[in-house]
Amino acid sequence: MKYQESLTYLIEAFGGSDNLQKILGVGPSALSNYRRREHLPFNQAQKLSELAPDYGFNLDPYSLRISPVNKKAKLEILLIITGGIAAYKSLELIRRLQDFEFSVTAVMTESAHQFITPLSVSALTGNKVYSDLFDLTDEQEMGHIQLARKADLVLIAPATANFISKIAHGLADDLASTICLVTDAPIFVVPAMNPHMWANLATQENCRILRNREITFIGPDDGDTACGENGSGRFAETSFIISIIQKKLLSNENLNIFFENKSQQKHLIAKPLAGKRILITAGPTFEPIDPVRFIGNRSSGKQGYAIAAACALAGAEVCLVSGPVNLAAPSDTRLINIETAEQMQQACASELQVANGLQIDCVICAAAVSDWQMVELGDLKLKKSDSGPPQLRLKETPDILSWVGHHPSRPRLVIGFAAETDTLKQNAQSKRMRKNADWILANSVIQSGETVFNSDKNEILFISETKEEAWAADNKQAIAQKLVVHISEYFSSTDLDRNC
Ligand SMILES: Cc1cc2nc3c(=O)[nH]c(=O)nc-3n(C[C@H](O)[C@H](O)[C@H](O)COP(=O)(O)O)c2cc1C
Repeated sequence: MKYQESLTYLIEAFGGSDNLQKILGVGPSALSNYRRREHLPFNQAQKLSELAPDYGFNLDPYSLRISPVNKKAKLEILLIITGGIAAYKSLELIRRLQDFEFSVTAVMTESAHQFITPLSVSALTGNKVYSDLFDLTDEQEMGHIQLARKADLVLIAPATANFISKIAHGLADDLASTICLVTDAPIFVVPAMNPHMWANLATQENCRILRNREITFIGPDDGDTACGENGSGRFAETSFIISIIQKKLLSNENLNIFFENKSQQKHLIAKPLAGKRILITAGPTFEPIDPVRFIGNRSSGKQGYAIAAACALAGAEVCLVSGPVNLAAPSDTRLINIETAEQMQQACASELQVANGLQIDCVICAAAVSDWQMVELGDLKLKKSDSGPPQLRLKETPDILSWVGHHPSRPRLVIGFAAETDTLKQNAQSKRMRKNADWILANSVIQSGETVFNSDKNEILFISETKEEAWAADNKQAIAQKLVVHISEYFSSTDLDRNC
């Protein structure tokens, strides 16, 4: 972390002007006064100093100097870039890893130099790029053993067929492959190659050897490859790579590897959503027919709860408005239990009220809200009668996603789910526009013969104004992580625009 006294730097460090205003409880004009005078009242500086460790640093309230929370403030990723056409994608990957507070040191193979320059890699990582096993200076400063040992995780991205073959057979004829033999950190491989190279039995056999050694593969994806062929071999999406790495690093069994003690965890885990307020709806709604019966649906709430947990882990302040489910509230979230669609809307309405200048930044409507409710509700149980079954008079329940999308205090990011049984894409696209949502996560209700409501897995078609992405079937936690990566990317780019 840099030492700097400028208030502009403080604004960046605390997640942008909006967030700093929220924390300080002041409006834009007070903040611009502080900036003009380069002076912060001492009580405000103290407030920031107390909160600073949650943002991953210490702040001296007298000098306004920022310093690292401890020596090892960030997790170290050793990125091995090998010589494939997808090498340029490692540049974007470095930037995104840094958004998530990982420190990146890169090692490039000799072939990788043919595709991208060490200069661009070093400019992005802010660290020296290593290539040569026999570079004496490096051996004195930082030899291959130290490089391998200081890594919390080794990420090979992109990984060529050649490099996969080398590490499968224990070759150590350059710096990158030697590091793979020396390291005791987990190794992640992101293959990228021509579909025939990937499908080749030799490559597949090498991958099997590595998987048996607990080396994790991320991708490859299917689709058009840079060499003009279609098939499996594409470099996996950056956001997917990060979600897998985060999942690995944040899982309980691995926390012990990365953190010396529990109290450090809070500061070391990346908090890309720190300072953001997120409102999430989850589960079904139950609309009473009479005092004992109701109209409901099979929603388990698992996806919404997984999203709430992932957002909270990423540092967001999360309010979860939930219909009746059999799930415990995720830690660090505020749970509001409701039964009906109207109660859900009321709970959301009071959360959307701007109190003390604090506004909700993002709403995620993951609840399966019943479409209908009774026109009239009696106090007594409906009885069987000789005149046949009762005629239930129904009316529509409030459309919560559309109401949020058109709300006067509409959050910056409105996300809805669309569970469909047919014409998934068209229905989801028109739903996004009708309801004024930014993103729709569409899923088919029937997936691989199983209903998605009771399943632990989900498969998503992500739709925004400008892009469409198919998210392969994965468990609901992984889908939640992926969504968090997208939300973080959205806020990191729009906060930057707003602060410029
Ligand atoms: C233009 C070009 C593109 C290449 N793209 C790939 C690729 O995407 N994936 C791959 O496995 N090999 C690719 N190769 C082959 C590798 O560069 C070659 O196997 C090299 O020895 C890899 O070295 P390394 O694994 O030490 O980085 C490509 C070669 C050329 C000339």
